[in-house]
Amino acid sequence: MSAQHLESHPQWSTRLAFILASAGSAVGLGNIWKFPYIMGDNGGGAFVLIYLGCLLIVATPILISEVMLGRRSRSNPISGMAKLSREAGVSPAWQLIGWMGVLTGFLILSYYSVVMGWALAYIEKAADGAFVGADADTVEGIFTSLVSNPGTLLFWHTVAMLLTITVVARGVRGGLELATRIMMPLLIAILVLLFGYNIGTSGFAPAMEFMFAPDFSRVTGETFLVALGHAFFTLSLGMGAIMVYGSYMPANASIVKAGIWIIVLDTAIALLAGMVIFPIVFSNGMSPEQGAGLIFQTLPLALGAMEWGYWLAIVLFILVSIAAWTSAISLVEPAVSYLYERFGVRRLYSAIGAGIATWTLGVFSALSFNLIDDVTLFGKNFFGIMEFLTANILLPAGGMLIALFAAWRMRRADSSEELGLSGGAYRLWWALAAVVAPAGVALVFLNGLGLFG
Ligand code: TRP
Repeated sequence: MSAQHLESHPQWSTRLAFILASAGSAVGLGNIWKFPYIMGDNGGGAFVLIYLGCLLIVATPILISEVMLGRRSRSNPISGMAKLSREAGVSPAWQLIGWMGVLTGFLILSYYSVVMGWALAYIEKAADGAFVGADADTVEGIFTSLVSNPGTLLFWHTVAMLLTITVVARGVRGGLELATRIMMPLLIAILVLLFGYNIGTSGFAPAMEFMFAPDFSRVTGETFLVALGHAFFTLSLGMGAIMVYGSYMPANASIVKAGIWIIVLDTAIALLAGMVIFPIVFSNGMSPEQGAGLIFQTLPLALGAMEWGYWLAIVLFILVSIAAWTSAISLVEPAVSYLYERFGVRRLYSAIGAGIATWTLGVFSALSFNLIDDVTLFGKNFFGIMEFLTANILLPAGGMLIALFAAWRMRRADSSEELGLSGGAYRLWWALAAVVAPAGVALVFLNGLGLFG
């Protein structure tokens, strides 16, 4: 912890680089795979409205707090939280936020990489023409045979991990920044292209109605909790990914403005993904309530019957893979920056080390669909347990601690200076971070625990 450490902490080359990288982290399987299907299960437009409300009053203040902690500390989340507690004169136990974050990132990436592997495998299948003219049984068979084949799953899981650590090993500017600078515009271009194709189809009008005409009869208490939980996952909140990205942010950039950009981009892309997926669903007379299989099981079927389906399927799964890739790198970055800054381990080695550890844990997730699918806890396989533990327990807990630390532990003068806010705007952030957001998280948390029952 010395001058050497300070000098070695990197920085994005521009504000835009920070926004693209953070949006790259936020936009992932959560947007393209999960958001459409939970929207489908929760009544469409009404869910969208509630989700937007959750983003605004709970997720926004926490996102701003997390970026702020990162930039103020100019350090990885573990050393950074130690520094910030010293600055605030409070217990060093707040470092727990950093440790929990590194652990959570490791756990999420282990199964995230498996699903990213599915997307990669689907690019190959699409290129092979496996979906052209395929019927429902064939498409279902393709998915089932993928997840029941340990060798294939492990192969694609390995490819996904290799892609991830290759970027991370190359560092902040040469890796994370370069990758997101190329992939984010590409991702947006692909989505707009697919969207354009869909406008002319017969499913477009019903899809718009489904997404934007709220049907409140489907809303229950559960809907609010699902919406709030998803707001965390989709914005990559609560585990230090956004904190470490914030620590590379230039000193003169506005945290609040950047935060709003990230949220707008993430939301716009999630809605756009919905506007690509639902027209395909409706054009083919399918039900929007397909659950988690929506993009892997129904879309190939629909695309296989369409005129440009061969190409659209390839493009669609490239899109999903890119989105997953730019998110995966943010899950391992907190650990890699810690190993480098604390112990001087070179990025290449720390990325490989973290990659091997994560890969190993991921093997259990991959095998939990086949060889060890009989090993369950509370009715969930290993993959399900990991998903549950991280999304429903660790992320909300991390997010709540971040908001509580930022609002109740940091000196007001420090947070106001770092945020560049004063007067009413500062008080608004403070009230949301101090009271509203933690209360909202407590609700998600209780809901998560309730699922045990
Ligand atoms: N936000 C990503 C998605 O929507 C997933 C993700 C990346 C994430 N980094 C994270 C989730 C950190 C929680 C915490 O797919």
